[in-house]
Amino acid sequence: MPPHLHPRAAAVLLLAALSLAGQSCGGSPPAIRPSPGAAAPAAPAAPAGTLPGPPAGAPTDARIAAATRQAATAAAPPTAMDPRALLGGDTAVAARGRDAFGLPAANLPAAARRDFTLGKSFFNVNWVTAPASTAGRDGLGPTFNAQACASCHVKDGRAAPPDVDHPLRPGLLLRLSVPQAAGDGIPGPAVAYGRQLQDRANLGIPTEGRLVIAATERPGHYADGDDYTLLAPRYTVADPAFGPFGTGTLTSPRIAPTLIGLGLLEAVDAATLLTAADPDDADGDGISGRAATLEAGSLGRFGWKATQPTVREQVALAFLEDIGITSALHGEQNCPPGQRACAEAPEGGRPELDAVKLDRVTFYCQTLAVPARRSLDDPQTTRGETRFADLGCTTCHRPELRTGSGHPIAALREQTIHPYTDLLLHDMGPDLADGRPDGAASGSEWRTPPLWGIGLQETVNGHTRLLHDGRARDMAEAILWHGGEAEAAREGFRQLDRTERAALLAFLESL
Ligand code: HEC
Ligand code: HEC
Repeated sequence: MPPHLHPRAAAVLLLAALSLAGQSCGGSPPAIRPSPGAAAPAAPAAPAGTLPGPPAGAPTDARIAAATRQAATAAAPPTAMDPRALLGGDTAVAARGRDAFGLPAANLPAAARRDFTLGKSFFNVNWVTAPASTAGRDGLGPTFNAQACASCHVKDGRAAPPDVDHPLRPGLLLRLSVPQAAGDGIPGPAVAYGRQLQDRANLGIPTEGRLVIAATERPGHYADGDDYTLLAPRYTVADPAFGPFGTGTLTSPRIAPTLIGLGLLEAVDAATLLTAADPDDADGDGISGRAATLEAGSLGRFGWKATQPTVREQVALAFLEDIGITSALHGEQNCPPGQRACAEAPEGGRPELDAVKLDRVTFYCQTLAVPARRSLDDPQTTRGETRFADLGCTTCHRPELRTGSGHPIAALREQTIHPYTDLLLHDMGPDLADGRPDGAASGSEWRTPPLWGIGLQETVNGHTRLLHDGRARDMAEAILWHGGEAEAAREGFRQLDRTERAALLAFLESL
């Protein structure tokens, strides 16, 4: 038995795999797996991205992937698993292979699984330049960052930043803005460039520029004398096509996160989240979570700064900003003033994405299952879980939430979930700050990211990069970057000896 798998979960997985043997795999999409960076027309020359780190995103061996999918697609009956392993409640699947992030919620009925599979195919497909013979998936660009959702959210998981070996790897975006005088929270678009740097474009259309990363080493040491080194990235834009960026232009680098369990996070009642908020730190614990209340009174939940209230809005924005596909929510092409060739380029329909496709992709993102926990009864893991609570990590990374009864997808209702997030904004200090206010968040606030699935990231994505721009090379570095409201928790971690640190990290690996 694999060492990290709970015996019951392993048994369920084995049974599920056996019962699937010989069946055709209904979840397998007619997808073209984009090889990151390889397929961009008019892609810029290799940027001088120099962020060192482990190589990431090894190419998929289609046969292995298919075999893994066959074994893993089986939705294990959740009741057969240790309830503590069900991070996503009844949606949880016992999966631990390379496809662990790409499975439908275990409790989805058959009809809904067809919608999921359709959504998956649009999520994985490479969009092409309009006009094309393949109507229905044309409309790419005019400018864009990647050709498919899956180019960045590789295997529904997390991207790694580009590096010397993969200079064209997509997945790290640069958001742009100019400071707004009146504080409605929404930063104004950078003149001539809009709200995001699009570093690719269709043939004959200028790319806006390219992101250059330079990292400096920042040494430190634990209280027991062990050394560590953090990498502090700096970002600049090379070859700006429409003139220099104005002084005061604000930038925010963002890495594509893992997409599991999003519908569950959407299904938590706003009231539940607001109860945990403590904007003025009334309880004096130094931690003042703020709800990301947006203009219309809705609560921001998605994105690294909780700028989007719903999965649907996040998805529609991704289609527009990341791929260049218009939809009912964003009808106009993303061509900022002055980008003439962009504005004159042919379109793939009005809008380019019909409502059904937007619905299916949204549904797909809402119902990606959270894999079950592993190593539940390992004593090291158990000790690490205690440390996680002792150090106050749980104040922000909340171990348990309950979904409400109002979500349109029945499978997501009234679930006890273990996302390890409060979905609130926290000031994480100057070292993590991007200095760019966004939605309800200030330049130093970030939404607590969920930690479920984090222990499977290396298996699925082949790398261990973390935090909003992927600067942390592993979990320990991610913790060591914590500051601001999380400074005491970080110091607590730094004071642990080697054995206790290993226990804490073993707990995170079990999620
Ligand atoms: C170029 C890379 C890239 C592409 C392509 C891309 N995304 Fe993303 N995605 C990101 C980044 C970066 C974020 C974080 C955004 C932020 O912080 O505002 C994100 C966030 C998200 C989220 C919110 C996740 C969360 O935990 O809050 C969803 C949902 C999502 N993307 C879906 C999609 C879908 C669907 C597509 C295809 C239409 C897509 N993305 C295409 C980079 C990408
Ligand atoms: C004050 C709230 C707060 C506390 C306390 C806190 N965190 Fe975090 N944590 C965050 C936020 C916000 C981020 C995202 C920061 C960023 O991306 O810049 C984060 C990111 C992380 C990440 C990386 C997640 C990812 O998806 O990239 C890990 C791992 C993590 N925290 C573990 C811990 C541990 C372990 C502790 C306790 C020692 C802890 N955190 C304490 C708020 C907190």
